[in-house]
Amino acid sequence: MDHENLRHAVSRGWRDMASLAVRVARDAPVDGQGVFVNPAVARGSTVLFSSLEAMEKAGHKRYGDELIYGAMGTPLQHRLEHAIATIEGATHTQIAPSGLAACTLPLLAFLDSGSHCLMSDSVYGPMRRFAEKVMRRFGVDITYFPPCASEEELQRLWRTETKAIFTESPGSHSFEVQDIPMMARVAHGHGARLIVDNTWGIGIFQPFRHGADISIQALTKYPAGHADTIIGAVSTANEADWHLLRDTAIQTGQVAGPDDCALTLRGIRTLPVRQERQSQSAIDVALWLQSRAEVSRVLHPALPSCPGHEFWKRDFSGASSLFGVVLRPDFTLPQMQHMIDSLQMFGIGASWGGYESLILPTTRGITRSCDSVTQAGPTFRIHIGLEDTHDLIADLARGLDGMAKGNT
Ligand SMILES: Cc1ncc(COP(=O)(O)O)c(C=O)c1O
Repeated sequence: MDHENLRHAVSRGWRDMASLAVRVARDAPVDGQGVFVNPAVARGSTVLFSSLEAMEKAGHKRYGDELIYGAMGTPLQHRLEHAIATIEGATHTQIAPSGLAACTLPLLAFLDSGSHCLMSDSVYGPMRRFAEKVMRRFGVDITYFPPCASEEELQRLWRTETKAIFTESPGSHSFEVQDIPMMARVAHGHGARLIVDNTWGIGIFQPFRHGADISIQALTKYPAGHADTIIGAVSTANEADWHLLRDTAIQTGQVAGPDDCALTLRGIRTLPVRQERQSQSAIDVALWLQSRAEVSRVLHPALPSCPGHEFWKRDFSGASSLFGVVLRPDFTLPQMQHMIDSLQMFGIGASWGGYESLILPTTRGITRSCDSVTQAGPTFRIHIGLEDTHDLIADLARGLDGMAKGNT
């Protein structure tokens, strides 16, 4: 694909969702009455009822939008749930207080002591820590599989007590795009669930069309979009799973603050337009990096050099602006770290999805699946924000030139 076609391919899906993002979960004026464009932020814990009977009746309606108690959802939480369910193509969505809480909630809801979970080796690091430190304590066994595992490999790892596959596509830091329909086939063939962390693909990968049972969003990233909110979402494909999930959220006290819901709803309105620009800037930077002598491989799902690129081509309608870069093996980790420290336009910090560009080294401690891809040379993860692409490239050029000089 030439450069112009690639720019189109990474941003097509964002343009397609622009009108939906502006309109979803908004009020229309009724009966000659005016209405604010944005709903009011309602803060509350106690909800008052006209009688004990009315309070008891409301308590039975926990799967709806009724106000029962602040910890069981506020009006803006429910509104955000409707927005995310529509964007993800889900039957229902449960908002969680963080992206990590959204990752852990389906495991708490669907796994029991004695059950087994197949987890991709390249999931978000803290999720792996949760699996090791918490799930194991409660008697759940976990097997990590290579993110590019074939159907036969997954079948070989299957046990009678396997209840779920948990994956994240593309993989955290190592960016393997995975064959989600194949994983769904394997899980469903055994009556199990496929749980997908779809944070990278919000709006450009429709998880339920490809067979996922549960889709997770760290809304902290692109939807909130301004590096000022921590929030998550879990969406379901059917009513029964929704009930289990919602009950577990209530039982474990998972709730997001109304201000965080408001900021995320506001972020959704501009998500496609930010992403159209960021995805195009990211592919510009990725192609430029690919042309540099210091770089051995660019792990951007829209480029053939990324593992699983064929699944991106088949299943995605666009790309986000987060990708990986592997340097030539003759460069050392300290040289790369020095190069990163020298950059002016890229923030050094956790998370991604905001309007600002970020960079972080990829270390083995974060994800273990790097062996095949990211152990080929020092590797970093880069997030492209809304800055001018020329400024970003000029900054990276200065950094790489400086690093290369040390090797001549
Ligand atoms: C893919 C993915 N899922 C989940 C999370 C967790 O999100 P939060 O930071 O909101 O807990 C992250 C955070 O970086 C992430 O990258």
